[in-house]
Amino acid sequence: MIRKMQISDADVVYDIENKAFFEPWSKKHLIKELESNSFLRHFVEEIEGKVVGFYISSHVLDEVEIFTIAVDSAYQHMGIGTRLLDHLVKSSKNENVRQIWLEVSTKNLAAINLYEKFGFRIMGLRKNYYQKIGEDAYNMLKEL
Ligand SMILES: CC(C)(COP(=O)(O)OP(=O)(O)OC[C@H]1O[C@@H](n2cnc3c(N)ncnc32)[C@H](O)[C@@H]1OP(=O)(O)O)[C@@H](O)C(=O)NCCC(=O)NCCS
Repeated sequence: MIRKMQISDADVVYDIENKAFFEPWSKKHLIKELESNSFLRHFVEEIEGKVVGFYISSHVLDEVEIFTIAVDSAYQHMGIGTRLLDHLVKSSKNENVRQIWLEVSTKNLAAINLYEKFGFRIMGLRKNYYQKIGEDAYNMLKEL
């Protein structure tokens, strides 16, 4: 089941994020944005009462940017990333969004494959985008 993220999900979301990313948002930042940033959309996938994945995106006019999408490592390869991205794309279409943008490390083949499966195209390369680990990023776009 995909539902809106609640403040009470912050611990588990932070945990998933912390394992998945080298530069996770702090829990404080996550809660602050969840409470007060009306441009952001936060959704989680819950299975039998357990949050196993989530996404955070920003919506400004007819553009969406995917900030984060992550699935608990114990639940990957089960179609959850696909369900979350499908939810994001469908709700964007319902809101007349024209473009969905994201940045992804050029080394993150799992995510690149997932995005390409949804029709995202590589539009550019951002050198040293992830400075801490010295990785480049692709800038990817899906037009709706
Ligand atoms: C990227 C991520 C969200 C995918 O979630 P998932 O639930 O495992 O994905 P799904 O099971 O829905 O798989 C969908 C597609 O993703 C791709 N994919 C997923 N894992 C992959 C892997 N280890 N290697 C290559 N491709 C992979 C495949 O194209 C797959 O489609 P297929 O099953 O038809 O081959 C997950 O690996 C993750 O949380 N990674 C860490 C966080 C992250 O890097 N997020 C993206 C930041 S931009």
